[in-house]
Amino acid sequence: MRVDFDPAVMGRTSFYKLLTATVVPRPIAWVSTVSADGSANLAPHSFFGVACVSPPIVQFTSVGRKDSLRNVEETGEFVVNLAPERLFEQINATATDFPHGVSEFDAVGIEREPSTRVKPPRVAASPVALECVVHNTLGLGDSTVVFGRVVHAVVDDAVLADGHPDVRALRPLTRLGKDEWGTVGDVLEISRIRYADWPGHREG
Ligand SMILES: Cc1cc2nc3c(=O)[nH]c(=O)nc-3n(C[C@H](O)[C@H](O)[C@H](O)COP(=O)(O)O)c2cc1C
Repeated sequence: MRVDFDPAVMGRTSFYKLLTATVVPRPIAWVSTVSADGSANLAPHSFFGVACVSPPIVQFTSVGRKDSLRNVEETGEFVVNLAPERLFEQINATATDFPHGVSEFDAVGIEREPSTRVKPPRVAASPVALECVVHNTLGLGDSTVVFGRVVHAVVDDAVLADGHPDVRALRPLTRLGKDEWGTVGDVLEISRIRYADWPGHREG
């Protein structure tokens, strides 16, 4: 038996809880930005993904108008820092609703380092940073999707295996429903099947 859920009947919060408990696990963009007056901001966003391959574009969504969105609109740049398992509590602490102008880097005690191509600093202890220039923003209902062209990427060599980022070394956190977070479990590997190799397929 299946249970039906109608967003029009349930209302915003209940359906949001259903969506975030079913679209799982979500990767976490730990987004650093700076305001026009130079204050550095850091906040996790799990409405996050790759939007385009060429040019490389990533996206995150601000639900409501958060400081990250405000800064992106003011300065046109952001950095996506990977959220590793070992920084679990610090990442959660940067989701605190500090007043505008309070830097999560300072309040939580997170070391920053300069970015190569953009103004917002990178998180020094994060193994991956994607430096982005805003491509465009898209208002959708109560949310705004921010698309950013990745103009530079850095990866800690400790998490590279044969020059490629290794998920077992990256140990990224993910966001689940409620207050739940996930870590990487078993990693499965399988080759994609080409249609030409599909059983029973004959060329021509
Ligand atoms: C793991 C995690 C994921 C989150 N994902 C989002 C998200 O995708 N969009 C959003 O608007 N807020 C998200 N939040 C909440 C923001 O991080 C929180 O509102 C934060 O205070 C925003 O900071 P800012 O105002 O400095 O931008 C998330 C929180 C956590 C802990």
